[in-house]
Amino acid sequence: QTNSAWGGRFAEATHQFVAEFTASVGFDRRMYRQDIQGSIAHATMLAAVGVLSETEKQQIVSGLQEILVEIEEGRFNWRVELEDVHMNIESALTEKIGLVGKKLHTGRSRNDQVATDIRLYLRDQTDVIAAELKRLQSGLIELAASNTDTIMPGFTHLQTAQPVTFGHHLLAWNEMLQRDSERLQDCRKRVNIMPLGAAALAGTTYPIDRAITAELLGFDGPSENSLDSVSDRDFAIEFASVASLIMMHLSRMSEELVLWTSAQFDFVSLPDRFCTGSSIMPQKKNPDVPELVRGKSGRIFGHLVGLLTLMKSQPLAYNKDNQEDKEPLFDTIDHLWGSLHAFAEMVPHISPKKEKMREAALRGFSTATDLADYLVKKGMPFRDAHEVVGKSVAYGIETGKDLGQMSLTELQRFSDLIIEDVFDVLTLEGSVGARDHLGGTAPTQVAAAAERARKRLE
Ligand code: ARG
Repeated sequence: QTNSAWGGRFAEATHQFVAEFTASVGFDRRMYRQDIQGSIAHATMLAAVGVLSETEKQQIVSGLQEILVEIEEGRFNWRVELEDVHMNIESALTEKIGLVGKKLHTGRSRNDQVATDIRLYLRDQTDVIAAELKRLQSGLIELAASNTDTIMPGFTHLQTAQPVTFGHHLLAWNEMLQRDSERLQDCRKRVNIMPLGAAALAGTTYPIDRAITAELLGFDGPSENSLDSVSDRDFAIEFASVASLIMMHLSRMSEELVLWTSAQFDFVSLPDRFCTGSSIMPQKKNPDVPELVRGKSGRIFGHLVGLLTLMKSQPLAYNKDNQEDKEPLFDTIDHLWGSLHAFAEMVPHISPKKEKMREAALRGFSTATDLADYLVKKGMPFRDAHEVVGKSVAYGIETGKDLGQMSLTELQRFSDLIIEDVFDVLTLEGSVGARDHLGGTAPTQVAAAAERARKRLE
């Protein structure tokens, strides 16, 4: 007995291993909801143009609705020999309503059906992911707003550079995520185009009305070219690319959290419930969540490259290769969501160790640039000021004193332009407060930036 869906021209049944090897139902069944949604819209359109009768449409729709309930209640019998989610559902429909079930596939192919299902699924998941991203952003902004004047060292080359505020640092993270959120919305525009109606590759001879189906499914419109419709997976690659950028950003945040929770930095603490211990070293509290997110970034970059390679050199139109798009796409969605969720839960509970941050900012000559700027304001050319401050730093290294700890007489050894008011710029508050312009680290600017970020998120 040959295959029921296409066995007509075959002389023997599919090899058991081949049936299992070519099946995708093990992973594409997660699109059952979208598959049913797409089929209901297709049947409704076929009835509207007179290809199906109203009664036939009714039978199909109620049959599909019953199947939906069976699947959700775990009563549906998924069969590998029926290859994929599409044929499993269609065959169950025929079993349920008889011959009319077989009419559902009129003017349609699995090629446009699968492309439609993936787009619907990805569109839904994009919205779920966007919501989680927004929740994380909101947590970051609130933590920033309550730390507009918490001072920490800012780094370049991971060496102490200039003092910044913790709020400013957190809002830098938020900027990364804001761009990601815009990219996600932009990607969604190209996801939300309907391929249904392309049929196998060339279109169909039935008088279909693609505008009706597009409208029913909430697509922005039908796709332009049938060959492209069934073979395009750009939208999946774009999504994986947006996901990769998000994960790259999360990996940078993770890396900083791992550093900051170490005994050497000791800038922040994470709640115990987001950490784990060691079975041998009793003192350990490990930042597992950021570490794991950092690790998962690699897996998602891998999926981006996997999808690009999958599509590379494929001739038009549909090729079975495309069945390989789903696992990397689904895995990307799952782990991206998981990482965002973990961060959204954890970020509001990051607690800054303000004294430790402050002590660290006081080390490493972080106000050296302020001293140079001070001399420039007193009339010295910047290059000379750089040299003068360099010498005072060398003196500080020798004597073990930071700039703010030197006496006025000591500082005056390097320039007679230095007077009592120098201590205003050598303090941490003076240093951050002086960077008082749009985008700067001054507490008033950070508070205003947090407010703008809040508004933008609404
Ligand atoms: N399971 C297939 C996929 O995931 C559905 C489309 C199959 N079409 C075909 N003509 N073999 O891509």
